[in-house]
This record gives sequence, C-alpha cells and structure tokens, in this order.
Amino acid sequence: MNDRLEKHLRESAGFIDALLASAEQSDASALAIRRQAEVPESTQKFIAQFSTPLPPATQKLIDDFVESGTQLAQLTDSIIKTHFGSALLDFGLARDTAYLENAKAKYLGKAGAVTELLKGMAQLSPEEKKTRGAEINRAKDAIEVALKVRRESLAAQALNKQLAAESIDVTLPGRGRGVGGIHPVIKTWQRCEEIFGSIGFDVADGPEIEADWYNFTALNNPPNHPARSMQDTFYVDMNGTDGLPLLLRTHTSPMQVRYAKMHANDLSSKGTPIKVIAPGRTYRVDSDATHSPMFHQIEGLWIDENISFADLKGVYTDFLRRFFETDALQVRFRPSYFPFTEPSAEIDMKFDSGPLKGRWLEISGSGQVHPSVVKNFGLDPERFIGFAFGSGLERLTMLKHGIGDLRLFFEGDLRFLKQFA
Ligand code: PHE
Repeated sequence: MNDRLEKHLRESAGFIDALLASAEQSDASALAIRRQAEVPESTQKFIAQFSTPLPPATQKLIDDFVESGTQLAQLTDSIIKTHFGSALLDFGLARDTAYLENAKAKYLGKAGAVTELLKGMAQLSPEEKKTRGAEINRAKDAIEVALKVRRESLAAQALNKQLAAESIDVTLPGRGRGVGGIHPVIKTWQRCEEIFGSIGFDVADGPEIEADWYNFTALNNPPNHPARSMQDTFYVDMNGTDGLPLLLRTHTSPMQVRYAKMHANDLSSKGTPIKVIAPGRTYRVDSDATHSPMFHQIEGLWIDENISFADLKGVYTDFLRRFFETDALQVRFRPSYFPFTEPSAEIDMKFDSGPLKGRWLEISGSGQVHPSVVKNFGLDPERFIGFAFGSGLERLTMLKHGIGDLRLFFEGDLRFLKQFA
C-alpha cells in the first residue's frame, strides 16, 4: 500500500505543492491553513472551514487521493481525516526542512499525535487492539511516506533554486578582447615623422620638465615677458641649476636650442646641416574648446649657411599637401611676432575643396631664427641662418578630420576614438 501511496503522491502532479499553492492564493487562507493544521480535525471539515474555498482542481486532487485504492480506503475515515490529512497539509505548508521536521514531530514525535494514539490503545480489548493497531500503523506509514515525498520535493526545489542561481547563460556573447588603436593625435605625430623624415629631417625628443633658460631666455624671451607669468606657465616646485624654478615646457621650441647646441659643432666643422623636427607634449594654463592644459606640438628647425623663407615655404607646403593628401591647397605667410624669430610669420592654409574650402586657416607659427637665438645655439649668426616652425598636432588632426572640439581628444570616449582606429 505504501508503494502505491508514494506513487500516488508523486504522480498527483505535486499534490502537496498544489495544496500549498492554493493556500498561498492569499495570505489569509495560508494563515487559516496554518492555524487549522495545528488542530487535528477531519480533513473534510477542515477544508470546509476554509475562508476561501480551495480551487476545484485542488479539491479534486484531495478527493481522488482519499478514494484511491481499496487498501488506502481501509484506513478508517477518522484516522485519514484527522491525522494523515492534517499531516499532509502541514508537510505541504513546509517551505524548508526546519519547518518540515517540526511538522513531523507533531505526528511522529514522542508526544506526536500518532504516538498518542498508540499509547491510547492500552485500554482496548485484544481484538480491538489488533484492528485499531493495524489502522494506526497504516496511518503512521502513510504519514512517513508523505514526509519522505515532501522531503525529496523540498530537496529538489532547493537544488533547482541553487542551479538556477548558479546557472551560466552559455548563449551570452563572450567578453572579447578589444583591440587597441593608436590615438588620432599620435597618428598625426607618426605621420609628421614619416613626412619630415622622408625629406631628411632628424627626429628629436626632449624633456617636458624644462629649465627656464631653454624655454624662455635662450629663445629671447625677456625676464618680464608675459608668457613667463603664472597665468600661462605651469611651474614645478623645484629649481633648476640656475636657481630659477623648473617648468612644464610651454612649447617645443626649447628643443631648437637643445638640439642645435648638441649639433652646432657638426655644422660649423663638418657642414652637417641642422635639420630636425621635435614632436612632443607641451603645457599651458589654459582650458576651453580649443585649448587644453596639455597639448602637442611639432617643432621644426633647419639651419645651414643659406636657408631661406623660400625653403620654409617649400618644405611646409610639401608637408601640408602630403599630410592632408591633396595638392589642392594654398599656403600663405602672414606677418606675426615671436621673440625667437625675425621676421616671424603665421602660416595659413586654404583648401580648394572639401568642407573647409575657401577659408584661410591658421596652421603654424614660424619665422627666420633670430640671430641672438642662433648665438645661443653656439653658432655664428653671421654665417648660419635658417627657419623654425611650431605647429599644433591637435590642430592638424582637427583640420584633417573636421573635429570641432579639442577636448574630445582627452576624454577617452571610445565612440570617438574608434573612428580613427
Ligand atoms: N613656439 C611657438 C608657439 O608655441 C611657435 C613657433 C615655433 C613660432 C617656431 C616660430 C618658430 O606658439
């Protein structure tokens, strides 16, 4: 019989769970079940007392169960209804093992209902003991079966819950490895090196923390020049060998002096021209849509015995045409002022096609290197002459790609950067 009962409990498509689900339709009925379950009463009566009637499907389940099998029906009505039925509900209400084991104690424990029934048999006649004892034992076995089934179902539920929590969605796309790209400004830097390298320019690199002399004095910036002010220059909290505070270079022009001083001897004794570009980071106290406190410049310097503005125009025009990949552009020089060049000029360019067509765009500072600066190179200004230019790498990049805001370069937004990868 117990095998059949177990089978029935399993096959009744979650009989206990169905009971529970119906009870949980409202907190009120769940409470009612709990309260009622503590007082063993006939299952029918018990069900009839529900404030909310059971759903018909659940009611049918219970009826089918009670009626199934002649042997099961042999359990006396009262025992089925009071103890087994009540235990079934109680087990069904158990949401965890602790509750279930407590419920078990109510029926099968030392002071449990079944144990009390067995104790009560003492007063019965031997005949009555036989039949009554058999009935009570069947009820006891049936309760044990219900308990076993509920234990298994709770364990399965717990396992399913755990599996669901630990489940891995193998259909999710993998995390992948993003391929890095070269920053657009650095691409410009690299392209400049390629172009100037191809026409015989050396590439030099120098310190970003610079001495006052290289950044200003050697470049003809008088001591009270406004560029030296705290408003324009980041000073470092440390002095150079000259006792003046070190600073973050405000332009790449100090590289003219550093490089020329190192190569002055080769020029004067061997006639090797000084022909160099020096790209790198520069710093100014400045921040808006077209200025960033850190930005990039490329310095150019060509010194020999006979280098003129015509050479500057030729070199720079060639550079622009190759950089912007079009011959359809014009270059003009506009008078300007820099302390370290004389004469000085802004280089402007104009596209003959494309979105910027027809507008003169300022692209670089330039000029013939001032004789005092040539002297600071360690060269004779009567003999050596040449030009220098300094262009912004961000500006070149913005014009090339039509970028309107310089800050995009420094925000690290992949949606922006990926366009250049
Ligand atoms: N250093 C100048 C600047 O930062 C640019 C420049 C370089 C001008 C070389 C003339 C010659 O504005």
